[in-house]
Amino acid sequence: MLRKLMRKKTADIQSLQERIHTVKQRQMPNHVAIIMDGNGRWAKQRKMPRIAGHHEGMKTVRQVTNFANDLGVKALTLYAFSTENWKRPKIEIDFLMNLPGEFLNTYLPELMEKGIKVEMIGNMDALPAHTKTAITKAMEITKNNTGLILNFAMNYGSRLELVHVMKELAREVESGNMEIEAIDENVINSKLMTAHLPEPDLLIRTSGEVRLSNFMLWQLAYAEFIFTEVLWPDYNEECFLQAIEDFQNRDRRFGSLEGDRKG
Ligand code: IPE
Ligand code: IPE
Ligand code: MG
Repeated sequence: MLRKLMRKKTADIQSLQERIHTVKQRQMPNHVAIIMDGNGRWAKQRKMPRIAGHHEGMKTVRQVTNFANDLGVKALTLYAFSTENWKRPKIEIDFLMNLPGEFLNTYLPELMEKGIKVEMIGNMDALPAHTKTAITKAMEITKNNTGLILNFAMNYGSRLELVHVMKELAREVESGNMEIEAIDENVINSKLMTAHLPEPDLLIRTSGEVRLSNFMLWQLAYAEFIFTEVLWPDYNEECFLQAIEDFQNRDRRFGSLEGDRKG
């Protein structure tokens, strides 16, 4: 207990730079997934409209993306709009649908400079044309970049994703292209929208909510979960660094008796 406290104290007085140096020498999560929550409450606290919180949250996206890229994280999936978020007032939905365009138009040069590659999971067809255009353009322009994959989950819902996978597999079996016995975890993985990405190692949710809200239910089977009270617009590099440090101190056993803690 005392040793734990002392370790914490030492961590407190270490400078950010030293801490960054230390985490870089240890095992970095390949894929970090974030449920960016609390924009509305952030605005409410300031007596501002909810959309002001969403706008502020965009700045956090920029900061965390650049930082994750600097740290050498391979993929960052950001939950930006769920299949259930269509239940919100039209004015808020319209604002949220404008954000990808604003974000990508503003930061595309920076993303290119840093070699960040933009991708998306979710049902793109149901997005407004201008949102689709902004995302498609950014994906096209950044497609050869080799740095961080910045993957937006936009109009994404895990259950819907799984329904599509199941239908596709059923069709393949029905048409005689696949044996039922051939269906295994790898086949299912290969049909998910995240098929080409490493499995998420770390899930972060901001704003104090402790639930998944239909986010990557299959993919998160063995991810480490970190929940923080910090509202997304207040989330910053130090918070992300803390999450990586916590992750690196977890003992991931994957069902066995031996952990994978390294470094
Ligand atoms: C997260 O912030 C952004 C989206 C879900 C689009 P919220 O808008 O959910 O903020 P709270 O939870 O109401 O504070
Ligand atoms: C989850 O947040 C979705 C996104 C962050 C995009 P919500 O705010 O929609 O989740 P609930 O409604 O509190 O579960
Ligand atoms: Mg919320």
